[in-house]
Amino acid sequence: MVTIKPELKLTRLQQKVLELKKELNAVILAHNYQRPEIQDIADLTGDSLELAQKCVGTEAEVIVFCGVLFMAEMAAILNPSSLVLLSHHEAGCPLADKITVKTLIQWKEKYPQAAVVAYVNTTAAIKAESDICCTSANGVEVVEAVPNQEVLFIPDRNLGHYISTKTSKKLILYPGFCHVHDEITAEELRLAKIRYPQAEVLVHPECRPEVVNLADATLSTSQILRFAKQSTHGTFLIGTEEGILYPLRKQNPEKEFHLLSDKLFCPDMKKTTLEVVAETMETRSNVVTVPEEIRIRAKQAVDKMLAVNLKGKSSSLMEEGQGAGK
Ligand code: 13P
Ligand code: SF4
Repeated sequence: MVTIKPELKLTRLQQKVLELKKELNAVILAHNYQRPEIQDIADLTGDSLELAQKCVGTEAEVIVFCGVLFMAEMAAILNPSSLVLLSHHEAGCPLADKITVKTLIQWKEKYPQAAVVAYVNTTAAIKAESDICCTSANGVEVVEAVPNQEVLFIPDRNLGHYISTKTSKKLILYPGFCHVHDEITAEELRLAKIRYPQAEVLVHPECRPEVVNLADATLSTSQILRFAKQSTHGTFLIGTEEGILYPLRKQNPEKEFHLLSDKLFCPDMKKTTLEVVAETMETRSNVVTVPEEIRIRAKQAVDKMLAVNLKGKSSSLMEEGQGAGK
């Protein structure tokens, strides 16, 4: 949980957003990839799982979601009594748009024995057609928790592949991918290791299998933050979107962080600026709603995931060595 430190000098726009927050009785949630000036004024910064958990039972009248559409939809699914505003009206996730309900229904007919595990990077309508959701922080635990031996994993093939290396269950992988993480190559990682031979390599499970294989640990964005803080290493190579560098450097001023590739930029995450958030709050626009019939079914899949997390400790740091490289 990020509390606004008294020594933090706020800009005029940041002050404006905080005044609007008071006026609206709002809570501001920001994903770890958001711009530094947004992260600094958020009530909570986190990964998809932590942000979803925060939405459960919040008493705020308004949830301002600085992230992308599927995250704001999760807030609307979990908390229908709050008004949910998405920071930028066009902040989507191309990965979430890679599977349609029609295609999912066809795949379900093809694999009737398989449980459908949907990565949260999906639309509410897809979640409604799924048995359970998972995030990058709890995918292995969720797959282990379903009673079926076969799992239809949608829509990220790389996360699905990573999970398949950690379970004896059979995973059928839908061929979606994140255009940001899928760009990192094993060659880039090898070259970065030559430059920084002492560095510990931390990657997101949306990276390709050959990249994950060479990494020291494979972690959600918040798990990367916790891992780096606890590690005795001084230098890290990071395989996820560049926004994570801000909290990494802020929390570990004595350590060095380098990205594995210079292409790690998610244009959708970066659509949110302070100007945009202020305008959204002032005009109470970009309201995200989910039709009740879809919301109820999607909530069942999300609730099942949250129950797995309550039972286990999957939101905590994955053990060292979970990266296939170890
Ligand atoms: P995390 O849940 O690990 O923050 O990841 C979300 C995401 O969109 C990764 O690209
Ligand atoms: Fe979606 Fe990839 Fe951007 Fe994450 S980094 S929000 S998965 S496009």
